[in-house]
Amino acid sequence: MKKNASLSVLETLSFDEVLFRRRSVRGYLADEVPADVLRDVFGLAQRAPSNCNVQPWIVHVVSGDARHDLRDKLLAAARCPEKLNPDWPVDIRFEGVFREHQFDAAAQLYGALGVERQDMAGRNDAYLRNFAFFDAPHVAFIFMPLPFDVRQATDCGMYAQTLMLAMVSRGIDSCAQGALTLYPAWCANTSASRRRIGCCWAFPLATKTPARRPMPPAWAGARCPSAVQFHR
Ligand SMILES: Cc1cc2nc3c(=O)[nH]c(=O)nc-3n(C[C@H](O)[C@H](O)[C@H](O)COP(=O)(O)O)c2cc1C
Repeated sequence: MKKNASLSVLETLSFDEVLFRRRSVRGYLADEVPADVLRDVFGLAQRAPSNCNVQPWIVHVVSGDARHDLRDKLLAAARCPEKLNPDWPVDIRFEGVFREHQFDAAAQLYGALGVERQDMAGRNDAYLRNFAFFDAPHVAFIFMPLPFDVRQATDCGMYAQTLMLAMVSRGIDSCAQGALTLYPAWCANTSASRRRIGCCWAFPLATKTPARRPMPPAWAGARCPSAVQFHR
């Protein structure tokens, strides 16, 4: 199999380091991730397992002018809550220990931002940052076509986690953004095959120390072509 030149020169972190370094990042530099690095991480993510190896994910990466346009449309939509129209219900209420976890996460996030619990305007501003992709220069949308449903959504979750860990291994931060699934109409132009949005991710150029260990050369060649489309 042909050896991937860019992979062979890359260095990687240990698995534990990758796990510990992954965290949701909500502020990014404008610098774009080099195209070959992007292709590497999506190639790695393609190794995610899926039921019957169906690989139900369809991935669109939006950058440049297309990203600017999408951000403007999403921000405008997010300022009009009546436009909320998610493919999946978002009205589930967390109870008991899950409610505690949710409360804790919100307290940590808004605490880090210096936004008081009662400061609804401040909280809304922080929420709206989602729709500017936290200034990340790229945003990846993970779709799946109908009639796929919950079972295939779990496969998409596997893909998403594999993608996020692959990004960490290349020094790229990310943040899963369920918020970007709330106005799917605005994302429809990125994909004629869009039916449902599984999850969405924004990701930036690395600011972290580069990886240290050589990539195993045996990796070269994903088991199937990556279903990723890039837009500008
Ligand atoms: C499916 C999913 C959707 C998420 N949606 C959002 C979101 O819309 N906005 C956001 O800021 N964080 C979002 N997050 C990030 C979580 O808040 C974060 O993963 C969690 O608080 C744990 O923190 P960590 O990722 O830094 O470990 C999402 C995470 C997942 C897995």
